[in-house]
Amino acid sequence: MCGIISYYGKRDSVPFLINGLRRLEYRGYDSAGIALMKDGSIEAVKKAGKVDELEKKLKESPIKGSIGIAHTRWATHGEPSDINAHPHKDKTGKIFLIHNGIIENYSTIKEVLTRKGFQFKSQTDTEALVNLISDIYYADGLNFEQAVEAALNQVVGTYGIVAFCSDEPNKLVAARHGSPLVLGVGKDEYFIASDASPIVEHTRNVIYLDEGEIITINEKGHSIRSMKDDVIVNKETTEIEFSIEEIEKGEFPHFMLKEIYEQVFTIKDTMRGRINPIDGTAHLGGIEHQMSRIQNAHRIYITACGTSWHAGLIGKYLIEEYAGIPVHVEYASEFRYRKPIVDSNTVVIGISQSGETADTLAAIRKAKDFGALTVGICNVVGSSVARETDCGIYTHAGPEIGVASTKAFTSQVTVLFLLSLCFGRNKNLSSQTGKKYATALFNIGEHVKTILDGSDSILEVAKSTVKADNFLYLGRGLNFPVALEGALKLKEISYIHAEGYPAAEMKHGPIALIDEKMPVVCLAPHDKTFQKVLSNIQEVKARKGVIITVTDKRTPELEKISDYIIDVPSTHPKVFPILSSVSLQLLAYHLAVLRDCDIDQPRNLAKSVTVE
Ligand code: G6P
Repeated sequence: MCGIISYYGKRDSVPFLINGLRRLEYRGYDSAGIALMKDGSIEAVKKAGKVDELEKKLKESPIKGSIGIAHTRWATHGEPSDINAHPHKDKTGKIFLIHNGIIENYSTIKEVLTRKGFQFKSQTDTEALVNLISDIYYADGLNFEQAVEAALNQVVGTYGIVAFCSDEPNKLVAARHGSPLVLGVGKDEYFIASDASPIVEHTRNVIYLDEGEIITINEKGHSIRSMKDDVIVNKETTEIEFSIEEIEKGEFPHFMLKEIYEQVFTIKDTMRGRINPIDGTAHLGGIEHQMSRIQNAHRIYITACGTSWHAGLIGKYLIEEYAGIPVHVEYASEFRYRKPIVDSNTVVIGISQSGETADTLAAIRKAKDFGALTVGICNVVGSSVARETDCGIYTHAGPEIGVASTKAFTSQVTVLFLLSLCFGRNKNLSSQTGKKYATALFNIGEHVKTILDGSDSILEVAKSTVKADNFLYLGRGLNFPVALEGALKLKEISYIHAEGYPAAEMKHGPIALIDEKMPVVCLAPHDKTFQKVLSNIQEVKARKGVIITVTDKRTPELEKISDYIIDVPSTHPKVFPILSSVSLQLLAYHLAVLRDCDIDQPRNLAKSVTVE
């Protein structure tokens, strides 16, 4: 949610900043801006729209400077416009600031400053903060970083910020509370960004800022202070663990398609070193030391948002079956504001691709306060969820850039499968059943490949249904969350309204919507739910719905009743949800391409939602 990028060094910073904004555009893309310091003065260019628009404007009126800050925005306060775009400046025009997060008490700050004669041009909360810094700086005789810190002490809300001031040229100040920041340490140059993706091609050495830390960079180098503890902190650099290739589109037209295809090996990467098909066991090093507490928990909560929440629902089915522990799956945004029954006998699993989702983090913090053991399942190494949970499991899916989550989802589900296999084998799952389960998981990559090879037949289904305004997705058991996720994928990238439902619930409402214009995607694996799903398909057919069946085994009945069939390789029934998810990702992708939608940056969305 909003991308922050900054450069401090000797080079012309514009190419780095523009390239960095492109890398961070997945975080928000309604406007962008850049401000550069040169010879003791600061110039800025801002533009509504994507980074391309900003780049065009910069070509018309170029600016230069070797210290610079830049921002790509996802609007919270104020519509996307040139004025509301960051960086924002104070009333003297000497202080510039970029911000990710929300200043909750901005209207109070504005009111106080307005009485002091400040005027505000934008509708943003950020402009309140930059003027608060200015008010303190020009009144209290503090140096710039002290003034920034003093202002932040008055702020309620969340922020990742970078600021500079032309009265103290050659200085850059950045701080974090709730929104991630990474410092890249190069040779005689520094980079600050919302994540490491814009930095990796310049240096692999980074420092992840912790909550409440403020960095000052000047000619002498960098220093980091904990504002909370009022001390200087010495932090070692760590190495970025991904390569540039992983964050490039390569030959694919879209990141989303690349990431769908990567699932052939990302699911394997998630399992690497963790699964043993020979003896049918799984081993999860990151939680091993807490396994007995987890298995003896009275209850488990899984908390997450969006796609990760859908993975959590699959986790519920699996963990309850294999561990025999009651599992509640809750939207993090609900969990954090109610009184859940959480104590030291509770385990709270937070699932998050980015590891930075504000609600998920807040839910995890709340669970900790209540004495629960917290477990993180996340993709981004070193992210806040990874750092703040008691223990955890990385999904190892590699960087996910497309806003609609694909490979991260199947890796999250894979982790939950591994977890349930661990539970099962520690309880009463026989080694023979464990072996079948583990072998099916282990071989999943080749089945994903088969689905990808059949992408053209899914494209044909998309071509036939592209004019529909609504889709319904139906599934039972483990495939009910798959239906939800299939519908979400379609909504996110094609803007077609879609709903996922437990197949049998359809008759309690959605059935009223079914007519000859409504495609209904029915998840029909050949497991114990098959006959029941078939009955539900009959109910749809009787209302003339267009039936798209996703199945691992065609039967004469299915062939007769279905308008279209999407085939999924036949394997262990538990693996069907992962495979069918890949098919539904392709269906959503093809429909969105046919409708000429912006696949990687769908309107109004952002990949990493760091505001609540
Ligand atoms: C946003 C993204 C979704 C994602 C959700 C949760 O809404 O667009 O794709 O599922 O956030 O993100 P997380 O990083 O916590 O999994």
